[in-house]
Amino acid sequence: MFEPSVLGTQEYWDEFYQKEIDIMKLNHEECGEVWFGEQTQQTTIEFLLEKYTQFTCIDIGCGNGLFCIELLLQQSDEHSIHCIGLDYSSQSIDLAKMVHSKYDSISNIEWKCLNFLECDVSSLLKDEKVIVFHDKGTFDAISLHENKEQYKQMYKSQISKAIEYGKEHDQHIALFITSCNYASDELKKEFDFLSIVEEIEYPVFEFGGSKGSSVVSILFSK
Ligand SMILES: C[S@@+](CC[C@H](N)C(=O)[O-])C[C@H]1O[C@@H](n2cnc3c(N)ncnc32)[C@H](O)[C@@H]1O
Repeated sequence: MFEPSVLGTQEYWDEFYQKEIDIMKLNHEECGEVWFGEQTQQTTIEFLLEKYTQFTCIDIGCGNGLFCIELLLQQSDEHSIHCIGLDYSSQSIDLAKMVHSKYDSISNIEWKCLNFLECDVSSLLKDEKVIVFHDKGTFDAISLHENKEQYKQMYKSQISKAIEYGKEHDQHIALFITSCNYASDELKKEFDFLSIVEEIEYPVFEFGGSKGSSVVSILFSK
């Protein structure tokens, strides 16, 4: 498990999203891949909308940007949500902007080309009482890099810095992470410096007698 893979490298994602851009240029209806499927994404969106009303959502490794777009599309009149979609692949950010341009009604998103492991995380924390870092598949990808131990540590340190900053500025900071590489217990162990607020478990699909990969989402805070 977690043998280094190309999915841990930026080159892979740059190429991946360039292909998605090329496909979208040919067919405007195509928005690219939703990792772990649309049903998982829908479940996570409904969960967040139920849990929080007024918040900033920072999507770490936003890919094609659809998570932020759908979150804003599905909010009710009671919600007030601001989104920041960030990704280290400039092709991902270009794709997210292309997808966003199809939705005139959505204005509350900023797209940022940033390496989450190295960015000034406090500069992302707006004057907002509640900030939710959202991650679907990015910690998984980082865990596939050949320097995974160092990179995972950098990721956790960024989250800790955000929490410290939040404490000083009376902000509530949460991390909502969805993974298909980590089992629930493993993910909890990785983030044992945080408290578990809630967990979503998804069905494990069985096919031909063998179990498929499972997805887990956990909301952490401190
Ligand atoms: C498995 S994809 C998931 C994309 C998107 N979250 C989704 O659910 O469709 C992983 C994403 O993480 C991004 N990523 C990986 N490492 C990153 C880092 N250090 N900083 C920012 N983005 C990163 C990749 O470019 C890619 O878009």
